[in-house]
Amino acid sequence: MAIRNIILEGDPILSKKSRKVEKFDDRLALLIEDMIETMQLNNGVGLAAPQVGVLKDVVVIQIDKDKNVLELVNPEIIEASGVQEEVEGCLSCPGEYGITKRPMHVKIKALDRLGNEYFYEGDGLLARAFCHEIDHLSGILFKSHAVRMLDKTEIDR
Ligand code: NI
Repeated sequence: MAIRNIILEGDPILSKKSRKVEKFDDRLALLIEDMIETMQLNNGVGLAAPQVGVLKDVVVIQIDKDKNVLELVNPEIIEASGVQEEVEGCLSCPGEYGITKRPMHVKIKALDRLGNEYFYEGDGLLARAFCHEIDHLSGILFKSHAVRMLDKTEIDR
């Protein structure tokens, strides 16, 4: 396992569309392991493969240290309902936060590293994480969903 460099906003790779995973091999497993390690080291809630320079439909999410890591290969949102407006940030946009409009409840379909299909449902933060990370696979950053960005006086870190 290895820590990978996180690509920052401004790099064109972050606006590209990722491709579906077709091979469920050791390389995919290694990518997922590295992404988990990189997310945890950077205290992220989620990480998408384009953020480490790999244009593949792979996402990892861990909304809390006590919760399991979700590994999502070829994830798709299959249902979304309700609305929430909460503060959001991204490891590719350090120090920047904005209030985004997202669905409150999201249901997704995804594969694991072996190609087994799973369904996940999430509310609140988990729903936001699903939307945010899956957006990365289409080259979309959270700022395009921001109702407004926070200014420096609102960010206490
Ligand atoms: Ni992000």
